[in-house]
Amino acid sequence: MIEPTIELKIVDRNNWNACIRLKLKEDQTKFIAPNLYSIAQSKVEPNLLPYAIYANKEMIGFALIDSESDPKDMCHWIPRFMIDAGFQGQGYGKASMKKIIEAMKAMTNIVAIRISFDPDNDSARALYLKMGFSETGEIEDDEVVFEMRL
Ligand SMILES: CC(C)(COP(=O)(O)OP(=O)(O)OC[C@H]1O[C@@H](n2cnc3c(N)ncnc32)[C@H](O)[C@@H]1OP(=O)(O)O)[C@@H](O)C(=O)NCCC(=O)NCCS
Repeated sequence: MIEPTIELKIVDRNNWNACIRLKLKEDQTKFIAPNLYSIAQSKVEPNLLPYAIYANKEMIGFALIDSESDPKDMCHWIPRFMIDAGFQGQGYGKASMKKIIEAMKAMTNIVAIRISFDPDNDSARALYLKMGFSETGEIEDDEVVFEMRL
C-alpha cells in the first residue's frame, strides 16, 4: 500500500468545526473523550496542543499532544488520538502516529512518549505495539500505560 501523505495542523478558528464533526464507531465512543472536550481542555491547559490530522489534504483524525513533560515520570503524553470511522482500517492510524512521533521527537529534551488506553481497546493495543510502544505494567485512571523510549 502507498503510504498516505500525513500533515498535522494545529486546531484553530478555521478547522475546529470540522474537527468536532469527526466520527467514531459507536462502540468506540467509550474509549475517548469527544474532540469538542479535548479542544476545550486545550484552551484551559495550554500545554496541551490540539492537532487535526490530514491525509492528502482531507481531515481524517485528531490528536492531543502534551508539549510539557510530566514532572512525575519526565515523559511527554499523547492524551488523545483518533481516526475518523470512515478512514479506519486503511493504515491511516499507523501513518498518523508515525508523524506524531516525528513531531514530538523535534521537541526539546524529550526522553519518552507515553499513551494510555482502556484495556479492552484491542485496536489501540495492536497499533501501539506495532509502532514500538511497550507496556509499562502501570495503570492510570483504569487505563493501561504504554511507553516509547526515544
Ligand atoms: C485505534 C485507531 C486510532 C486505529 O486507527 P486505524 O486507522 O484504524 O489504524 P490502522 O488502519 O493504521 O491499523 C493499525 C493497526 O491497528 C490494528 N487494528 C486496526 N483496526 C483494528 C481492529 N478493528 N481490531 C484489531 N486491531 C486493529 C492492526 O494491528 C493494524 O495493523 P495492520 O493493518 O498491520 O494489521 C482507531 O481505531 C480509532 O480512532 N479508535 C477510536 C479512538 C481510540 O480508541 N483511540 C485510542 C485511544 S486514545
